[in-house]
Amino acid sequence: MKPFSRITGTGSYLPPRRLTNADLAAELAANGVMTSDDWIVERTGIRARHFAAPGVFCSDLGLEAAKLALLAANVRAQDIDLIIVATSTPDMVFPSTACILQNKLGVAGCAAFDVQAVCSGFVYALTIADAMIKTGAASKALVVGAEVFSRLLDFKDRTTCVLFGDGAGAVVLEASDTPGILASDLHADGKHVGILCVPGHVSGGNVLGDPLLKMDGQAVFKLAVGVLDEAARAVLAKAGKKASDIDWLIPHQANIRIMQSTAKKLKLPMGKVIVTVDQHGNTSAASIGLALDAGVRSGKIKAGDLLLLEGVGGGFTWGAVLLNL
Ligand code: ACO
Repeated sequence: MKPFSRITGTGSYLPPRRLTNADLAAELAANGVMTSDDWIVERTGIRARHFAAPGVFCSDLGLEAAKLALLAANVRAQDIDLIIVATSTPDMVFPSTACILQNKLGVAGCAAFDVQAVCSGFVYALTIADAMIKTGAASKALVVGAEVFSRLLDFKDRTTCVLFGDGAGAVVLEASDTPGILASDLHADGKHVGILCVPGHVSGGNVLGDPLLKMDGQAVFKLAVGVLDEAARAVLAKAGKKASDIDWLIPHQANIRIMQSTAKKLKLPMGKVIVTVDQHGNTSAASIGLALDAGVRSGKIKAGDLLLLEGVGGGFTWGAVLLNL
């Protein structure tokens, strides 16, 4: 049995409909909701986001990202023995989006399940796949973060609807003789459920409660900067590395100010941070996979680079993964 796990391919997908801040502001204004490109850029760094068309599901976005990751890894779908999808916007209440994705990939038999950790979903899913590979329960895993967050947005609430977008990111993680994933650190604190949630649920054929996103932005901001720093330091300590060893920081893409704060605490220049929030908005569980793939395909991230991935989101959940690509 090979003792390590390593990412061998990355992929990502954005639905074609792209809205700049000006496009979104014009749509919102038609319904009496006022915002501006200046406000959104200054507070968040976001300039554009992609929204999936009606009838396009989480699994459809995940499928496109997965196909590209499999191609990059030179692995056939039928050779995958584990599929994990991180999402908060599944196609159905059940079965899992991972099972639906498996079927769309034209394969059957391997384990497939979803992970629900909102914006931390990608680091949670990667950590689970790594652990399953290291125990011999799997040898070639497909890890996908995919979201259609636009479906959860209240377009009458300007404090939240300008922040999010849709998309998917994927990696193939394979058993390896050389170390890839070096350390992980995952956490949750359920007492903060109320600061970021979609409090609706399905009962008796109806949606009860409010099925749209609610967020206390300032509370999320404050918690996020603290826990991201802790998680970063924890994985560095576990792997015996220093912040200055990091080639690329790939944070959850929620807000440029959170990313700047994290980089500053680690004394990393912004030139070592992969930033896609300007073009993607916050794509929740998809954002780290999307940013990783963008960094790889742009040629910035190279084989062997030391990468720090970190996520934070509803739950409250947070975590980090340190790896050599
Ligand atoms: N356009 C124009 N004005 C707006 C908008 C908007 N879209 N949204 C809010 N405002 C107004 C408010 O009404 C308020 O006006 P007032 O002073 O007249 O009352 C003013 O702007 C300031 O509002 P605040 O909420 O205080 O703005 P803040 O500087 O806190 O920025 C933001 C809000 C961007 C949400 C910030 O709190 C933040 O980034 N929080 C982090 C949350 C986050 O990134 N969440 C993503 C999901 S969680 C995750 O992924 C980790």
